[in-house]
Amino acid sequence: MTNSYEQSFAFGRSKTTVVVGHGVLDETGRRAAAVGGQRALVVSDETVAPLFAEPLLASLAAADVSARLVTVSPGDASKTLSNAELCYRTLADMHMGRDGLVVGLGGGVVTDLAGFVAGTWMRGIASMLCPTTLEADIDAAIGGKTAVNLSAGKNLVGVFHHPAVVVADTNCLSTLPDRDLSAGLAEAVKHGLIDGEELIAWHEDNKPAIMSRDPAVLAELIQRNICVKAGIVSEDEREMTGRRALLNFGHTLGHAIEAAAGYSLRHGECVGLGMLAAIHISTSMGLCHASLYDRVAALLMAFNLPTTLPPDIDRDQMLSYLPQDKKARAGIVRFVLIEQPGTLGMRDDVQAASIDAAIQRLGHDS
Ligand SMILES: NC(=O)c1ccc[n+]([C@@H]2O[C@H](COP(=O)([O-])OP(=O)(O)OC[C@H]3O[C@@H](n4cnc5c(N)ncnc54)[C@H](O)[C@@H]3O)[C@@H](O)[C@H]2O)c1
Ligand SMILES: [Zn+2]
Repeated sequence: MTNSYEQSFAFGRSKTTVVVGHGVLDETGRRAAAVGGQRALVVSDETVAPLFAEPLLASLAAADVSARLVTVSPGDASKTLSNAELCYRTLADMHMGRDGLVVGLGGGVVTDLAGFVAGTWMRGIASMLCPTTLEADIDAAIGGKTAVNLSAGKNLVGVFHHPAVVVADTNCLSTLPDRDLSAGLAEAVKHGLIDGEELIAWHEDNKPAIMSRDPAVLAELIQRNICVKAGIVSEDEREMTGRRALLNFGHTLGHAIEAAAGYSLRHGECVGLGMLAAIHISTSMGLCHASLYDRVAALLMAFNLPTTLPPDIDRDQMLSYLPQDKKARAGIVRFVLIEQPGTLGMRDDVQAASIDAAIQRLGHDS
């Protein structure tokens, strides 16, 4: 019998039931049937489908849910309107009505794409997301943000659409490359810092078990992190109060590093560096104790994440990617800053000198 955890979260009028555990992919058929759909479009990528589509499709078939599979190339470049259209054409071919289901099996690329297709087909049909990366388990699959990219920028076209069910099978993480596991752990560190001392300490205490992929510990990590993200989203689903914006901790500079590196680094690697920069800025503004920097750097290192910038990143190019807040004074960038684990806030009074000093501390002083 699988040892699984199940919890439902309410987001406005939507509800997402989350199932976490080893082998829970076998439950997808039963879950799909419970959502109401007797027919499903399964979206995956060419790396994930050969690994996990078979048990998923078998589970759907056993529950009398007829399904068709669409696979896209792996990678962010697949989050396109043309791939969404590929899915729409299959849905049209299936004569899929509003009682149908879209299932996303893969990392954040697939869950964003499948969620977008579900949210737009006939103005929105149910989706079930089966994340297969840690990034998707604890972040992308939760919270209802779906999107595709345009050549003008990432995630420019999207819709809020919560999955009816998220099935996070820790077994899927057994094939995930080390680098992708580490990248996902950066978001876990972020959640720990947002949530507070107990959660960040839990990640510190469980470093060896996490890195050795102990299934029970990974299940607990996913469950705890989903609770943080879902909790914040349920308080501020549409980013109206500033609460959901705290999830951008480390992402202001993180996104700039990602772009300046030409997207050659993992998102989580850049977020880790961005969090260190945000902590450094917080310390230089007298908000937080300097020891937090070393504490978080040690945790990132234990998770095999970088704590210094790659030498070939151009500092000015990186700064040019910082988003300028139109409502704030010219040249001022908004940052989520931290006082201590559990106490964070948005600030728009960060001076350029503080940003420079933070970048210098990351080992980039040219
Ligand atoms: N909607 C949101 O709130 C949200 C939040 C965070 C990230 N995202 C999005 O998520 C995407 C990044 O997600 P990601 O890091 O999961 O990337 P990804 O989906 O590209 O997956 C990373 C790589 O791992 C492969 N892979 C996936 N699962 C595997 C497995 N179990 N075993 C072996 N290989 C596997 C994939 O084929 C891919 O090559 C970005 O597009 C980002 O915008 C969205
Ligand atoms: Zn992120």
